[in-house]
Amino acid sequence: MSNQTKAGPISFLTELPANIWHSIFRNPLPDSDLGRSATSFTNFFLHIQPVKVHRHSLKLTYTWGLGLISLFLFLILSVTGVLLMFYYVPSTTQAYDRMLDLRGTVAFGIFLRNMHRWAAHGMVAVVFLHMCRVFLTGAYKRPREFNWIIGVGLFLLTMFSSFTGYLLPWDQLAFWAITVGTSIASYAPFVGNDVKFLLLGDTSVGQEALLRFYVLHVAVLPILVTLLIAVHFWRVRKDGGLSRPPEEDEVFPAATPEPVAMAPAAASAVVAVPAPAVKLGEKAQLEKKLYGIQGIVRGPFTKIGNVPDRSVFSWPNLVSLELLVFLITVAGVLIVSLYFNAPLEQPVNIMHPPNPAKAPWYFLGLQEMVSYSAFWGGVGIPTFEVLLLLLVPFLDRKPGGVGKWFARERLLANSLFMTFVILNIVLMIIGIFFRGPNWEFVSPW
Ligand code: HEM
Repeated sequence: MSNQTKAGPISFLTELPANIWHSIFRNPLPDSDLGRSATSFTNFFLHIQPVKVHRHSLKLTYTWGLGLISLFLFLILSVTGVLLMFYYVPSTTQAYDRMLDLRGTVAFGIFLRNMHRWAAHGMVAVVFLHMCRVFLTGAYKRPREFNWIIGVGLFLLTMFSSFTGYLLPWDQLAFWAITVGTSIASYAPFVGNDVKFLLLGDTSVGQEALLRFYVLHVAVLPILVTLLIAVHFWRVRKDGGLSRPPEEDEVFPAATPEPVAMAPAAASAVVAVPAPAVKLGEKAQLEKKLYGIQGIVRGPFTKIGNVPDRSVFSWPNLVSLELLVFLITVAGVLIVSLYFNAPLEQPVNIMHPPNPAKAPWYFLGLQEMVSYSAFWGGVGIPTFEVLLLLLVPFLDRKPGGVGKWFARERLLANSLFMTFVILNIVLMIIGIFFRGPNWEFVSPW
């Protein structure tokens, strides 16, 4: 007879919360190393992370949490975006009215729109800063070249996601920004007009363009970003965790590995590996080396017993930091959304373009260059910049200076990169603040 039948319906009720809890969370809060490993291993969300993580990766001043903030902004955008989809209709006759409804009649509608808009701008900026951090710490070098390339893909997709969303409110700002933005594409030789037509589904911005931008914005681009983020994170694990200076991995004389009590399944996953040819002194040491089944990945900290233990358990060290970064990101977006409303101008009037008609801020550097030369500013230089970014890890093959900000060995690479960044930012600032009617220079003061 089961316990439940013995104890009757009262105990069924009293034990119900605990039984449900234990059916979801199989391990109690851990108080041992084995428990901390099991917490990461057996949780769907936590198992994405390694069981142990190097102390250097936890230094906030190394990553500034920028990759994580990018991820959390993308999550905020996905949640608020789905909620907005309940109200939005991608039709030139309804879109603007739906924006007014969000502002006037939908509970928290304006707040939802603000969160979506500011998180989108934030993501463009933070992903760019994350790219700068990766470059300035030399973290694109072997074996992380491919992850850098995935990152460049993510950067372009982030900009394009923000750009396609810009049109959806169907107000004057949106309409003319996209008109300017897409006309830049038409400066490409031979294919320019075809690319523009493919994007707009017409020769000018109208219903077809709105529908295309909508489908790209709510389905195609988010799916691509999700896929690339998954590969990006997988590569961070497979490349041996985050980059760090070599001295962080110096091998001290190995201590004999402590016998660890393991569950049978985990124990069978651990195999002794014959030592490779090494100097005599090291050989005895390496013969004791054990690898976990995950030892196929690069980097030293999946090896047991032969590395200085500069790693700590992800639970709770990494998880608590991630939670903190998540809370700060959400709080930041909430506060900005509380105080600043996303712009909504007059409904589209194709007879009255604003003067000047400006692209979204992250494309204003391009627009500024276009004002000097349509081809070079709109196509030549941007294509060259993207190619250069993609080739960065293959142009700079020197191994030194990884894992440190502004390392001496990387003075030339960092100076070139900073010149490139500053030039682009200066062009953007000119476009935002110093250009007035007919794209003449004006004083912002
Ligand atoms: C949606 C955009 C992106 C997301 C969500 C994202 C997320 C992350 C996260 C969470 C990390 C680990 C922690 C950190 O460094 O903060 C990381 C590392 C990395 N990311 Fe990104 N990233 C994105 C875009 C980019 C871009 C634009 C690049 C470069 C072009 C890039 C290149 C890298 C590289 C090479 C690493 C490994 C860094 C290291 O080992 O130190 N990522 N990314």
